Amino acid sequence: MGKDVIVACDFADAAKTFEFLDKFGSARPFVKIGMELYYAEGPDIVRRLKERGHKIFLDLKLHDIPNTVKKAMAVLSHLDVDMTNLHAGGGVEMMKYALKGLTRPDGTRPMLIAVTMLTSISQDVMTGELGISGALPDTVMHYAKNAAAAGLDGVVCSPLEAKIVHESCGAGFVTVTPGVRFADGDIGDQKRVMTPAEAKRTGSDYIVVGRPITAAPDPEAAYMRCVGEFVG
Ligand code: C5P
Repeated sequence: MGKDVIVACDFADAAKTFEFLDKFGSARPFVKIGMELYYAEGPDIVRRLKERGHKIFLDLKLHDIPNTVKKAMAVLSHLDVDMTNLHAGGGVEMMKYALKGLTRPDGTRPMLIAVTMLTSISQDVMTGELGISGALPDTVMHYAKNAAAAGLDGVVCSPLEAKIVHESCGAGFVTVTPGVRFADGDIGDQKRVMTPAEAKRTGSDYIVVGRPITAAPDPEAAYMRCVGEFVG
């Protein structure tokens, strides 16, 4: 499996997204489309990005009863994205149904990745509001193991967790890691960050990078720097 840099296209609409991507020369980065852009533009944004030759991670984080998720994933399977995701908190059966829905009649399917515990959830919130006992990192690992047991391809996690996820769920279990910053860059609202080179050393398979590239004066140069440090 090849390591790659995924550019988080956290833009409000298609016009701003294409204005950004037009700054890239011949490079066609793997892009992440989140809820904001997808809900604003609908499936057409996926088709337009595909036509331009981009690989796509559709970050919609599905979470519902197994049958509903299966049917929604079957619809998404027609969009021909390369990676999509759901919440592991929906349970093992939901994840298994999602895989079935995502698998096309010819047996092919996009990669399916699970979000374990959102990084916005603290230990106090997990224990006090969600009523889940134990330590937060143990819950993250428990959810990752559930995702592996359901047959998913991997999880979204911090680069700091990539090594332990691989140790518990297997080297081939994919880690997709946001929270990446250049050594000389702003960390913004991210709390725990790693450079692309450090993320490579911890064994991340894909890094998701937003503002260090989207807000750079020369996005293509910032992207190439990320690729250089992470992929080598
Ligand atoms: O701009 P920045 O590099 O912080 O963007 C990171 C991207 O990864 C954003 O799209 C953000 O929503 C996403 N993400 C994250 N942390 C998570 C899961 C997703 O930063 N735990």
